[in-house]
Amino acid sequence: MRVEIVSLTEENLVEAPEWDEHPFSCKYCIYWEFPEECVEPSGENRGKTLAKKVDWLRSARKVFGDCGKLIYVEGKPVGYAQYAPPKMLPRSAEYPAGRPSGDAVLISCLFIAEKEYRRRGLGKKLLQSVIEDLRRRGVKAVETFARRNNPNNPSGPVEFYLKNGFMVLRGDPEFPLMRIEL
Ligand SMILES: CC(C)(COP(=O)(O)OP(=O)(O)OC[C@H]1O[C@@H](n2cnc3c(N)ncnc32)[C@H](O)[C@@H]1OP(=O)(O)O)[C@@H](O)C(=O)NCCC(=O)NCCS
Repeated sequence: MRVEIVSLTEENLVEAPEWDEHPFSCKYCIYWEFPEECVEPSGENRGKTLAKKVDWLRSARKVFGDCGKLIYVEGKPVGYAQYAPPKMLPRSAEYPAGRPSGDAVLISCLFIAEKEYRRRGLGKKLLQSVIEDLRRRGVKAVETFARRNNPNNPSGPVEFYLKNGFMVLRGDPEFPLMRIEL
């Protein structure tokens, strides 16, 4: 299986046509970036949400540097990761476990889009590549809101993060805040 992980750019975000029919398409989702304007990323909203997503990505990359990755299998994009300082992802202030730490970068999304590609080690590869990128850049810690008792969550379930070296920083019955020190 030929696996490649590349930085997310405005260009390859727009170019991921295989995702256009996916109900959870990260390409059109502005849940984390623009909570007050967040709408279902489908149908007629898509032009608007994609434009906002591209604008966000452009300015986030200018201020922070790379803040996302795509994973390809045999040339096909199958997964997406997005991460940034919590201030750049205002939805993160709304979770009951409390705001992410000021010294951490938040993984907002980590998604292997199609079920047939899950549980084959791709999510782990993508997460490790995000962690390595941030370690190289001198970031102190990575945090995420994982989900208990349900695999459907923008960044995945608690078990996935426990298996990958994260600890629960602040508990919550549904969305604990998890952290790994780099
Ligand atoms: C969570 C996710 C990123 C994990 O990626 P993946 O490629 O399936 O996971 P991996 O094969 O790399 O798994 C690594 C380890 O995490 C654990 N794990 C992964 N998914 C898990 C799950 N759903 N429940 C429990 N453990 C899980 C596995 O035990 C695995 O360890 P193992 O190799 O010992 O079995 C992926 O399954 C996913 O995107 N799920 C959908 C999440 C979703 O609904 N997102 C909505 C986006 S808006």
